[in-house]
Amino acid sequence: MQTPSTAFAAEPQNTTAQQAVEEQLIRNVLRSFEDCDDLRLKQLMQSLTRHLHAFIRDVQLTETEWNKAIEFLTAVGHITDDRRQEFILLSDILGASMQTININNETYGDATESTVFGPFFVEDAPRIDNGDDIAGAGAGQPCWVEGSVRDTGGNPVPNARIEVWEADEDGFYDVQYTDERVSGRAHLFSDEEGNYRFWGLTPTPYPIPHDGPVGSLLKATGRSPMRASHLHFMVTAPGLRTLVTHIFVRGDELLKYDTVFGVKESLIKDFEQQAAETPTPNGRDLGDRTWARARFDIILAPAES
Ligand code: BEZ
Ligand code: FE
Repeated sequence: MQTPSTAFAAEPQNTTAQQAVEEQLIRNVLRSFEDCDDLRLKQLMQSLTRHLHAFIRDVQLTETEWNKAIEFLTAVGHITDDRRQEFILLSDILGASMQTININNETYGDATESTVFGPFFVEDAPRIDNGDDIAGAGAGQPCWVEGSVRDTGGNPVPNARIEVWEADEDGFYDVQYTDERVSGRAHLFSDEEGNYRFWGLTPTPYPIPHDGPVGSLLKATGRSPMRASHLHFMVTAPGLRTLVTHIFVRGDELLKYDTVFGVKESLIKDFEQQAAETPTPNGRDLGDRTWARARFDIILAPAES
């Protein structure tokens, strides 16, 4: 039987030998990318190697766990098709989408902040005029949304293209229904003074698709699939940085727990409730329905910022 002092003495030697094996492997993998002509790809692969191996060593990953991880990624691949992108959902719930957005859309003066794009944007949404309704067949409380589009010098931006899209009060986007409806989405243009306005629906919370492996991961880790209530915007104008963002509803309990980490303080807006029969801004007759209103003034950074 080993005396305690021998056991103590042997440990650093073993550890050193073990460390040497592990570190040699990392050096070998790093060296395998050394001749890559594409310098950016080489940087990406070598940095990934360092971080991946640091993770494996940090958690002392077991072979069973590694196999489970591969099974998980295989399931993510299997459920992914033209309509369902589980890898993006995985990136979203890990905060990787948001961090990539943060890095690539640096804060610039008082320019409006960006947030996650999400999977429910559709090209060629209907064109509406200012003051029109985007809700279509979507159920929910009518909500008047208005604001201005300006550059960081405070100049109005006329004719900015504003894409808006949102879920209905049941938490579904039109593309999640099987009846080919187009609702809760449109595009419009800011007017000559750089202002815009439209009717939408007061946003309500909804879960991200959680019937696949990402949903199972959320469940296994005790996380909710819910997103805080929001309305999506994408704003484009020549010479200015494209803005992809949402506005969130002040007071929503989910603001702190948005499962894709998309909430930024500057994007939380007041959605003011209006009693039934309160006159609407454009004379729309809502009968005995209540409605809400929100203001979102948009500031676009220069394109090369
Ligand atoms: C969305 O807001 O539409 C969304 C964003 C990330 C994942 C799922 C949905
Ligand atoms: Fe959304």
